[in-house]
Amino acid sequence: MTAGVNGAGAGQATAAAEPALSRLEKLRDARVVVTGGGGLVGSRLTALLHRAGAHVTVLDRMDAYPDSAHELFGTAGTGAELVIGDITDRTAVRRLFRGADHVVHAAAYADVAACTRRPDIAFQANVRGTEIVLEEAAASRVRRLVLVSSASVYGDGDPGIQGPQMFSEDQTLFPLSVYANSKLWAEHQTRLLLGGESATEYAIVRYFSVYGDPQVPKPGSHSWMVAWLAMHARLGLPMRLNGGGVQVRDLVHVDDIAEATALALIEEQMAGQTVNVGTGIPTSVRDVAELIAPHFPGSECVVTPRPDGDPLGGYACTERSRELLRWQARIPVSEGVNRYVRWLTATPYAVPRWLSESVA
Ligand SMILES: NC(=O)c1ccc[n+]([C@@H]2O[C@H](COP(=O)([O-])OP(=O)(O)OC[C@H]3O[C@@H](n4cnc5c(N)ncnc54)[C@H](O)[C@@H]3O)[C@@H](O)[C@H]2O)c1
Repeated sequence: MTAGVNGAGAGQATAAAEPALSRLEKLRDARVVVTGGGGLVGSRLTALLHRAGAHVTVLDRMDAYPDSAHELFGTAGTGAELVIGDITDRTAVRRLFRGADHVVHAAAYADVAACTRRPDIAFQANVRGTEIVLEEAAASRVRRLVLVSSASVYGDGDPGIQGPQMFSEDQTLFPLSVYANSKLWAEHQTRLLLGGESATEYAIVRYFSVYGDPQVPKPGSHSWMVAWLAMHARLGLPMRLNGGGVQVRDLVHVDDIAEATALALIEEQMAGQTVNVGTGIPTSVRDVAELIAPHFPGSECVVTPRPDGDPLGGYACTERSRELLRWQARIPVSEGVNRYVRWLTATPYAVPRWLSESVA
């Protein structure tokens, strides 16, 4: 096993002595709009902001998943006002941003494979929608907007490096997919439109691979390896390891992601900054399968050929997030995967019908 299962943050300096929830006290009574707040990350973030005493409004199309997934996410129980609508609807965005103190822009066509299949939808949501969100945040003089970006902007990183590599914020970016390109555009446009002369500050967070209950795979997407492998094992299907499962990801638990994103709204030093949100620890696909297997006796792994161009992956340099965000991930992958499997076992209906029907 690689270091991934030993624990996020193990051996690293503590980023901040003051617990995140007490730092988030600054958000008490703040008005925060979360675009995409009905999704996996957004709903967890919204619940956290609500616990910190903020008044949260969610703007979301609510059609990325079947209704059953939104029930699992508990979107209705986060304490937020839910507005079902589209970020390309300028009037709706303007109305919600009027009087808002902060915005987290997390809405996106957030599926790499789907963006490749439908670049037109990716453009509408991730480019046009983002432009409207940025313009309206500036016009409403929102204090700070946090843009949710993705480690996919790094692509395969430095082609001269063999094997998994660490991605740091200032290195050259090589987006390799429609999704990654739309995220890179959103980042750069945020820097161009906000900060500087604008009354609205910005902060950009680049998430690595988000996982954790109640994540459910989207049809046609294979990107969420914890959910994907655990659901296969749950259904008695083999866990496929392309090329032996040597590829790595930086798996960061959704609770850690929510905390880092909320802190990006308030940490002074984050104004005008871009930071990675990851654990700094590579975890291989095989590591994840080995963590899942003992929970499902009889489960098996099969090794399949590694597709051409399949990247070996990478992990986050966490120096900047520890310094500027005063944050580091707290949930070790072993614990996060255990929690996911326990949740899945207790919630068998979480397996999407399209996936369980593929077994029948
Ligand atoms: N999950 C990951 O591993 C990961 C990694 C890096 C970055 N991100 C980014 O984090 C953010 C949240 O991701 P997630 O995993 O929670 O995805 P998600 O699909 O669960 O949530 C995204 C939400 O945005 C909403 N949305 C999409 N288009 C919209 C539009 N035009 N108008 C209004 N709402 C719209 C969807 O309905 C969905 O509820 C996204 O910006 C995503 O790109 C996610």
